[in-house]
Amino acid sequence: MLFGTQTINQRGHLEVGGCDTVELARTYGTPLYVIDEGALRQRCIEYREAFQEKSPGATVAFASKAFLCKSMARLASEAGLHLDVASLGELRLVAEAGVPLDKVTLHGNYKKDEDIEAALDLGVGLVALDSADEYRRLSELAAARGTRQRAVLRVSPGIDAHTLDAISTGRNDTKFGITVESGAALDAVEECLSMEGIELIGIHSHIGSQILDIEPFQLLAAKLMDFLLSAREKTAWSPELVVLGGGLGIQYEESDKPPDLAALAEAIATGIETEATARGLDVPRIGIEPGRSIVGELGLTLYEVGPIKTVPSSDGNTRTYVSVDGGLSDNPRPVMYGSPYPVLLANRAGEEATSEVISGRHCETDTLVPRALLPGPKSGDLLAVLCTGAYNHTMASNYNYFYRPAVVFVEQGKAREVVRRETQEDLLARDLG
Ligand code: LLP
Repeated sequence: MLFGTQTINQRGHLEVGGCDTVELARTYGTPLYVIDEGALRQRCIEYREAFQEKSPGATVAFASKAFLCKSMARLASEAGLHLDVASLGELRLVAEAGVPLDKVTLHGNYKKDEDIEAALDLGVGLVALDSADEYRRLSELAAARGTRQRAVLRVSPGIDAHTLDAISTGRNDTKFGITVESGAALDAVEECLSMEGIELIGIHSHIGSQILDIEPFQLLAAKLMDFLLSAREKTAWSPELVVLGGGLGIQYEESDKPPDLAALAEAIATGIETEATARGLDVPRIGIEPGRSIVGELGLTLYEVGPIKTVPSSDGNTRTYVSVDGGLSDNPRPVMYGSPYPVLLANRAGEEATSEVISGRHCETDTLVPRALLPGPKSGDLLAVLCTGAYNHTMASNYNYFYRPAVVFVEQGKAREVVRRETQEDLLARDLG
C-alpha cells in the first residue's frame, strides 16, 4: 500500500514528493513527520470540486484538529477550503497564518468566554453552537459589542455511525450538540432565532470519524431534513446552510475501502436535495468539514530502528520486539484506539517480509504495530509508518520528556521544514523551578 506520490526508488528506498526518505531522515533527524504537499494540495482541490460539482455553493472546511500548522492552514485556504477550529489555540494559529477568518468556524463543546470573545474580536465567519448555556452567553457578548454573530446550531441526530466508541458522536447519548429526539434542539432553534446577538443561519451535525460507508451520511441527510421540517412548522425558519460534519475514513488497512469522493458528494447532495424537496423545504446549501480523509494518507512518520529482542512468547513460540525512536508521544492512536497502520522499511522497501512487533521507546508497552511485515529489520534501519497525516502531529505529547518531532513538507524533490523539532530549551522554558 503506497499513497499520494510515494514510490520505491532505484536504491530501494521509499520516496515521497520526489524526496528520498533516507535523505530526509539524515537531514532532519527522526522521528520525523513528512507531508506530501503536492498530493495534499491536490486532495483539497479534489474535495472542493467533487462537492461543488454536485452541489453548487457547497463549502468544504478542513477540520484543523486533524493536522495543523501555519503552512497547512495556508495550503487549505489557498486551495479554496474553509477551516474549522475547535479551540482558542487553533483559532489564534489560523489567524497568525493569515487566512481569512470569515471562512473559519469555531467549534467546541465548552467554549469559554475568552474563546467567544476572541471569535467576536477576530470576526470568525461562523460559531457552531453546542449548548443553551453557550448560545445565551454568545448572544449577550455579541449584543454588548453591538454585533450579531452568524452561527449554526449543532444537533445530535441519534445516529450510530458504527465506528470507534470514542469517536462516534451522533448518538443521543453524547456530550456533543443538542438532542433532536427530546425536542431540545427544536426549542433551541426557537430561542436562537429570537436572540439579539445571534444570526442563526443553519444546523450542524458530526456523527463520527473513520466512517467507511456512505449509508450513515444518507441517514443523516434524511434526519436533518426531518428536523428542519419540524423547525419550519414551529418557527417558519428556512435556513440557508446544513453542515454534515466530517468523518470519512481512510485506508489504514488493506480491507478498509472508503467510498470515493464523487460517490460521497453525490450521495450527500442527492440526499439533501431529495429529502428537502420531498418535505417541501427549500434546498439548503451543504457544508462538510473533513479532516482525516484530506490529510491522513498523505503524511508518514520516519523512525530509526533501535534494539531488537527475540523473546519467548506466551504461545510457546518466540516473538521479536523491534524498538523505534518514537511511539506513544508522537502517535498515541494505536494505544488509545488499537488503530492499525501500514509500515515498511524505508531503506529496504522492496525486500521480503516477516512478522514482528514494533514498539516505541516509552516506559510502558507502547506497541505501535502489533504484526508488522518487515524484511528482518536491523538496528539502524529506517521505519516508515504510513497514514500518520491525521491526528498524530496534533495529538503528540511530551510523555517521558521526549521532544515532539519536526514536520517537513515535500514536493517535487524539495523539502522544507514547517515545524521544527522541539528542544530541551522549549520544554524547560515552562518549568519555573
Ligand atoms: N467536525 C467536527 C465537529 C469534528 O468533531 C471532527 C472530528 C471533524 C469535523 C473531522 O472529522 P474527520 O473528518 O477527521 O473524521 N482523535 C480521533 C479522531 C477524533 C475526531 C474528532 N472530531 C482519532 O485519532 O481517530
